[in-house]
Amino acid sequence: MADLNQETLTDAVVAQMASTPDPRLRKVMESLVRHLHAFAREVRLTPAEWLAAIGFLTRVGQTCTPIRQEFILLSDTLGLSRLVNLMDDQANRVGEATETSLLGPFYREASPQFAYGESIAKHAQGPEMMLFGRVMNEAGEGVPNAIVEIWQTDADGAYDLQALDPETMDMRGQFRTDAEGRYAIRTLIPLGYSIPMDGPVGALVRAQNRHGFRPAHIHMLIGAEGYRELVTALYLGDDANIDSDTVFGVSESLVVRPQMGAEGSPSPDLPSVRYDFQVARKAAHDKSGRVGADPSKIAAE
Ligand code: BEZ
Ligand code: FE
Repeated sequence: MADLNQETLTDAVVAQMASTPDPRLRKVMESLVRHLHAFAREVRLTPAEWLAAIGFLTRVGQTCTPIRQEFILLSDTLGLSRLVNLMDDQANRVGEATETSLLGPFYREASPQFAYGESIAKHAQGPEMMLFGRVMNEAGEGVPNAIVEIWQTDADGAYDLQALDPETMDMRGQFRTDAEGRYAIRTLIPLGYSIPMDGPVGALVRAQNRHGFRPAHIHMLIGAEGYRELVTALYLGDDANIDSDTVFGVSESLVVRPQMGAEGSPSPDLPSVRYDFQVARKAAHDKSGRVGADPSKIAAE
């Protein structure tokens, strides 16, 4: 029988897992074990800290519900979601496209459908703005019939799930681009908000003296036949936290500033943003999926 010690243990674990038939699972688990053991050695993990971590992860799981995904929030605040997004873009995109951003925990499938220029604010009230532009391919041609999904907070910084009965959808919806690839969405100017701070992830963020805020933003998910799905968001440049997003979603190219008199706005009387989204062709091997999901679907799978 091999005598296990600090030096031989890692290889013994990896050797026992070598029987894993799925090669990807084998590789991922071997690497995970090697990094996990190296981490424990580096910080000289104590039994009390090990138990505290088990307690923390237990609370993260217990906080998850069909409308709240605390594990995704943890991944977001550790920068892991953004990292997976960035790596996936590099591996699977064919040609230039609008930069991606986080899907976040507030995406919901089957949101209401709207016509060109309609307002997504059914219940919420506040200062309005117009978001318009085109969905284009890399040749600069409009992509007709693309689905443009949008979701955002109201003018007080709350998503429908937080402000209303969870059955009610507001400040979200789906639009179709017209024959020239144009879209136009009337909406409210969103407000920055704190990520949910009443759970274990919030407690960790507070223990790190981080503010927990996301700058005001509008989420977009754009899908068109033959193109790679684009999950992104537009960030309002005048938000005080534009440079310190708690979940690391902001890119310079996604920062916008609503302005009166924007050329071509379907509602020139409203502060408007023109933003043209560029979608990339789908790579033949692309099976990567989204970094995120409707929380109710994660629990069900
Ligand atoms: C969001 O933008 O909706 C979001 C993203 C990550 C964590 C919390 C919220
Ligand atoms: Fe958000």
